[in-house]
Amino acid sequence: MLISKPPDIPPSEITDEAVYNGRRRFLAAASAATAGLFLNRVSAADLPPDLPGLPPARPSPFSTHERKTPYRDITNYNNFYEFATDKYSPATLAASLTTRPWTVTVDGAVRRPGTYGIEELIRMNPLEDRIYRHRCVEGWSMVIPWVGFPLNRLIRQVEPTGNARFVKFVTLYDPREMPGQRSDILHWPYVEGLRIDEAMHPLTILAVGLYGRVLPNQDGAPVRLVVPWKYGFKSIKSIVRISFVEKQPLTTWVRAVPSEYGFYSNVNPRDDHTLWSQARERRIGDFFKRPTLLFNGYGEQVAQMYRGMDLDKYF
Ligand code: MTE
Repeated sequence: MLISKPPDIPPSEITDEAVYNGRRRFLAAASAATAGLFLNRVSAADLPPDLPGLPPARPSPFSTHERKTPYRDITNYNNFYEFATDKYSPATLAASLTTRPWTVTVDGAVRRPGTYGIEELIRMNPLEDRIYRHRCVEGWSMVIPWVGFPLNRLIRQVEPTGNARFVKFVTLYDPREMPGQRSDILHWPYVEGLRIDEAMHPLTILAVGLYGRVLPNQDGAPVRLVVPWKYGFKSIKSIVRISFVEKQPLTTWVRAVPSEYGFYSNVNPRDDHTLWSQARERRIGDFFKRPTLLFNGYGEQVAQMYRGMDLDKYF
């Protein structure tokens, strides 16, 4: 993200689409025939490998009905600097991450601080399927079927005090498991933050799964933030600490390049980054670019939180 222009989607991914779709149709037809099942528009290429399942998740009215990005694209085109600065290696390198057991500590300005095991977090919070648009500042986008629960559920459980104006999220720091942390490409551990009303917003979730199965490591296992109206880098992966604080936290990308990455990072087609125009985006799998929407198309739900703010100043 920081150092070079992003590789555009390789031409092979575009020109191969007919072949790719043909293979998907063939696989779908073959498995439907053998198992005697109707796959209802979900092709075999969309289904994850044999990762453990999760408790049943209920559908959410916040889900988009747009075509979901295939599982293999969501899990092979990742930004996860703790493992690599390219998008293809995290899929293999992140295998070194131990995600069970795992704990998340919730502390700071709350009446009931605590440390939760990942299984406990999943048990405590009914899961939902949330199909969200995901827009990276680099100009690509996906549609991702997350499984998770609203962050505001956890926030209510810990009872924030009046001093809790912001929420700070921190990724695991362990250079033995996360080889990218042996370099100083970023300041570690990765830190992100939200204003308390953004954190409480019903669209903001903690995701623990993808396509109905546990989250693959490269996508931020075992638990990550998802804030669908903001650029992808706000959606911090592999979280170990959530702290309620009074002052706006210094987040990783703001610390690295404050002129390019703002704290708010709301998707804004007017607000270009030096390397990437934000006016348009390429949905992974599409040939033509499409216009980018303010707040990534979630303006109806979130715009009121920014009323009166100059979004070009608070970018
Ligand atoms: N979280 C951590 N800990 N480390 C990272 O490098 N990259 C961010 C974000 N969360 C990142 C992270 C960026 S730049 C993006 S675009 C999204 O994760 C990518 O999420 P995805 O790989 O699931 O698409």
